[in-house]
Amino acid sequence: MENFIVKGNVSLSGNVKISGSKNAAVAVLPAVVLSRENVYLENLPDITDVRTMIEILENLGVSIRRRGRNALDLTPGNLSKIAPAYELVKKMRASYYFMGSLLARFGRAEVPIPGGCDLGPRPIDQHLKGFTALGADINIEHGMINMNADKLVGAHIYLDVVSIGATVNLVLAASAAEGRTVLENVAKEPEIVDLANFLNAMGAKIRGAGTDVIRIDGVKNFHGAAHAVIPDRIEAGTFMLAAAATGGNVMVEDVIPKHLEAITAKLRETGAKVEVEPERIRVKAPDPLSASDLKTFPYPGFPTDLQPPGMVLLTAAKGLSVITENVFDGRFNQVDELKRMGARIKVEGRTALVEGGTRLSGAPVTAHDLRSGAALIIAALMADGESRINAVEHVDRGYEKFEQKLIDLGASIKRRSEAGQEKLSTNQD
Ligand code: EPU
Repeated sequence: MENFIVKGNVSLSGNVKISGSKNAAVAVLPAVVLSRENVYLENLPDITDVRTMIEILENLGVSIRRRGRNALDLTPGNLSKIAPAYELVKKMRASYYFMGSLLARFGRAEVPIPGGCDLGPRPIDQHLKGFTALGADINIEHGMINMNADKLVGAHIYLDVVSIGATVNLVLAASAAEGRTVLENVAKEPEIVDLANFLNAMGAKIRGAGTDVIRIDGVKNFHGAAHAVIPDRIEAGTFMLAAAATGGNVMVEDVIPKHLEAITAKLRETGAKVEVEPERIRVKAPDPLSASDLKTFPYPGFPTDLQPPGMVLLTAAKGLSVITENVFDGRFNQVDELKRMGARIKVEGRTALVEGGTRLSGAPVTAHDLRSGAALIIAALMADGESRINAVEHVDRGYEKFEQKLIDLGASIKRRSEAGQEKLSTNQD
């Protein structure tokens, strides 16, 4: 375990470049196995989750050559295995995208039941319902999901809940199914559009990604392609919220502003000045910050992944803010830790009441998942005195060079091993 020692009372200022999207990258990488020809991917974030995906691909038999820090040449032609290794799969939830991609390529897949951030129950019933509708037999035993299809056949599938994961998995499988698939009530996130663009570049016939109905005409052969992953809207939103929360002034660069409209609007409600340019956004902190209610929703709503840093921002706003988490049952992992820092927050079910306006004070706290970890680091920057954030491995899963980017904006952060030794950032240059 590693921790960060963070000095408080810092206003972030300067420019920060946003990396490629984690959640797009972890969908695009498993999609590579549909092709028998070479694929080139760039703008992949150099984060633990992407490294794990790369290891899974190599373990399945894909040859991979790095081209610098963020690009890869992949050769999936000799791929023969249908069972990603448990030791790798258990590290990240998105490894279950190999269910869809291996089923598309081989008509078979054996994938361990996935792990991932603990955000409450995370069923996969919609994935399985969709695979079954496409013609797969599914058998779950001894922790493994075994799937078999003599052939996949297009179907009309209506998702009961809007799910990114189920949408990705069914788009992957249906791309190779015989005939037409219509997926209704699907996720509209930009990461779904990015995956569809990549699959279409390999020869798939997917229409409607980014709306709630996707139509797919299955194809037999996928060819090679080159693709650049979209910028990470969640990383960008994290820095936008951090700028406002720390009384800062930050230019967030290399973003698609359209993907950030819900965050821009919410920040403006708190009084922040947000200047939107074609590929960058400047956030200037408000003085004073206004309390504001926040409700998470699937895209284009305010993303659940930014609810923890959003909550940290609202601890600084005088008055009462009501936060409603509509996507996950257990996504208030940051609350008890923030209370150690003096935040006044009361949780009732999926609602959190934030009585803001008191200054946070530095304290030892623990990251329980990726986004609550990022939120605690922002809280530590705002607080009086020094904080120690334990278990920052969670943050390394999804933010490229997070502490270095914050240091470049004026933060003072040191990475330490549990034994107290100072360490270089795991994802430094
Ligand atoms: N759900 C079901 N049945 C299913 C699938 C989902 O009931 O078969 C429910 C979930 O329990 C949840 C809701 O549907 O209440 C939405 O879940 P979704 O499937 O959309 O989430 P996910 O695909 O598991 C992705 C992101 C998460 C992000 C959520 C919500 C990836 C790899 N993960 O998870 O990202 O929080 O969508 O936007 O794309 C993160 O980056 O920190 C992260 C957790």
